[in-house]
Amino acid sequence: MNNTFAQDVLDGLTANNKYLSSKYFYDDNGSRIFQEIMKMPEYYLTDAEFEILSMQSKQIVEALNFSGPFNIIELGAGDGFKTFKLLEFLVSNDVDFYYVPIDISQEAMHILVNRLKERLPDLKIDPQVGDYFEVLKTNRNSAYPSLLLFLGGNIGNYLEEDVEELLGLFHENMKSNDKLLIGFDLKKNPIIIQNAYYDIHGITKRFNLNLLLRINRELDADFKIDDFDFYCHYDPQTGNVKSYIVSLKKQSVNIKSLNKTINFDYNELIWTELSKKYSLDEISNLAKSSKFNLNTNFLDCKHYFTDSLWTKD
Ligand code: AVI
Repeated sequence: MNNTFAQDVLDGLTANNKYLSSKYFYDDNGSRIFQEIMKMPEYYLTDAEFEILSMQSKQIVEALNFSGPFNIIELGAGDGFKTFKLLEFLVSNDVDFYYVPIDISQEAMHILVNRLKERLPDLKIDPQVGDYFEVLKTNRNSAYPSLLLFLGGNIGNYLEEDVEELLGLFHENMKSNDKLLIGFDLKKNPIIIQNAYYDIHGITKRFNLNLLLRINRELDADFKIDDFDFYCHYDPQTGNVKSYIVSLKKQSVNIKSLNKTINFDYNELIWTELSKKYSLDEISNLAKSSKFNLNTNFLDCKHYFTDSLWTKD
């Protein structure tokens, strides 16, 4: 099978403990629902990081210590809302740089580029739609140093073994003077975290169930959305928020293009997402074990979130 989405869906739904990867949440519709999540008052991550990038742009830029022109490569730029303040600071201080946003969603990129062209007409922008590793590989050939941005707490969506691989890939594709600014959501009062994910508006539920609609559409399946629910749970000891889709009855779903019928028990789960929360100690250990130096943690005033600036050894 040369379609990785189809293969991953088949692997996940035929496993003993069913799972689907959260990376498939972000079709155009899923990206739109994620914008709604980011606007919810309970989803504190967006405001916390926005505060860091608005209030501490100057300190971040000083810590980069780049002496000439540079690139800002943003992996998974989304709507670019949080990055705007950093870009605005740089443009208004006549700093010479190129902004290279990368996102898998064509629609999200289109919106971002139009908005930036309108609000920051002097910004030099080179948007890229696609897989970030492909684009990242070309970074090594750039004559200028780069700041890689991996914001929004996206790292929390990677399993432990995948985090190591991801950071290894960043390391491999960075030149010696490049820097990495990486957003981590921090461990905090568990109720605050639980409320951000198990939201009373049902938006995160819609975000999860959209994945079933995507399978219906792209793989010709017949999931009946009303027969599934959403559950999530934060474990303060591990820092893991785990999200699940729950089958509300014993049922069978036919996935035509896989030529497969999937049986669900009453209350059977599909694990969809990990959103890991970190302590500052865990972040510094992670930097060390992946051969980076932690330069500075830029924190919001409530210490909910950090944008952690890393350099290569
Ligand atoms: C993109 N990522 C950091 C989000 C998170 O917080 O894990 C995705 C998300 N899932 C549910 N709400 C938001």
